[in-house]
Amino acid sequence: MKIGIIGAGNMGAGLGKLWAKAGHQVIFSYSRDEDKLRKLATSAGATAKAGTIQDAAAQDIILLAVWLPALEEVVHAAGSLDGKIVITCVSGLQPDFTGQAMGLATDLKISVAETVQQLIPNSKVVEAFNTTFAEIIASDSRQFGSDFPSVFYCGNDVKAKQIVAHLIEDCGYESVDAGDLLVARTLETLATAWVQFAVSSQLFPNLGLKALRR
Ligand SMILES: NC(=O)c1ccc[n+]([C@@H]2O[C@H](COP(=O)([O-])OP(=O)(O)OC[C@H]3O[C@@H](n4cnc5c(N)ncnc54)[C@H](OP(=O)(O)O)[C@@H]3O)[C@@H](O)[C@H]2O)c1
Repeated sequence: MKIGIIGAGNMGAGLGKLWAKAGHQVIFSYSRDEDKLRKLATSAGATAKAGTIQDAAAQDIILLAVWLPALEEVVHAAGSLDGKIVITCVSGLQPDFTGQAMGLATDLKISVAETVQQLIPNSKVVEAFNTTFAEIIASDSRQFGSDFPSVFYCGNDVKAKQIVAHLIEDCGYESVDAGDLLVARTLETLATAWVQFAVSSQLFPNLGLKALRR
């Protein structure tokens, strides 16, 4: 697949590297340091390169991995995202971990992911990776003993979700369909609770969330 990464920090760099390793074509974008982007692309391998936000947005699948205050700006800079699958891992978590900001300042009632869908109504927004830690994504393996953590994802487009499920599995996680995009309201809150628990238990970042079945 052709994947554009907007936000090449902890999450974007880690996920992009894993996708490039799995054979996907990856463009890394959005950094204050162009050289960092180039070095990141080189380290990710032959199927990766650095580009602009617009280069990333021209791919089939876009990962939004920026902090909430930058979200609206980067979505506007991307140009048309009509028909694209847009994965967002953007969290509404307050920077001091005290709670959940939920959505942009213009609408505090809905989730960040729904806000993204409102900003780009003709794209297929899927929320994923919110309950994962970048440190685990960057580590050699996602394995915890004999288990692999779950990555919950939600969205309104069935085909887009199937593709995202494969991309989650390419990263070494179990994919769990959490439902429609509406579920992002509680998934983002779960992610906040998970981060707070990780910090208060002093287990951060060596934790993986798993949906157990029987
Ligand atoms: N970290 C996690 O474990 C985790 C887990 C789940 C969800 N999330 C969410 O994922 C999103 C990205 O998190 P992250 O940890 O990957 O963040 P990060 O490492 O700080 O990456 C942010 C990206 O935005 C870029 N950027 C460009 N202009 C910026 C500016 N003026 N100020 C700040 N950054 C700027 C950064 O580029 P440069 O720094 O290279 O300039 C970097 O590529 C956030 O919404 C976060 O809540 C994070």
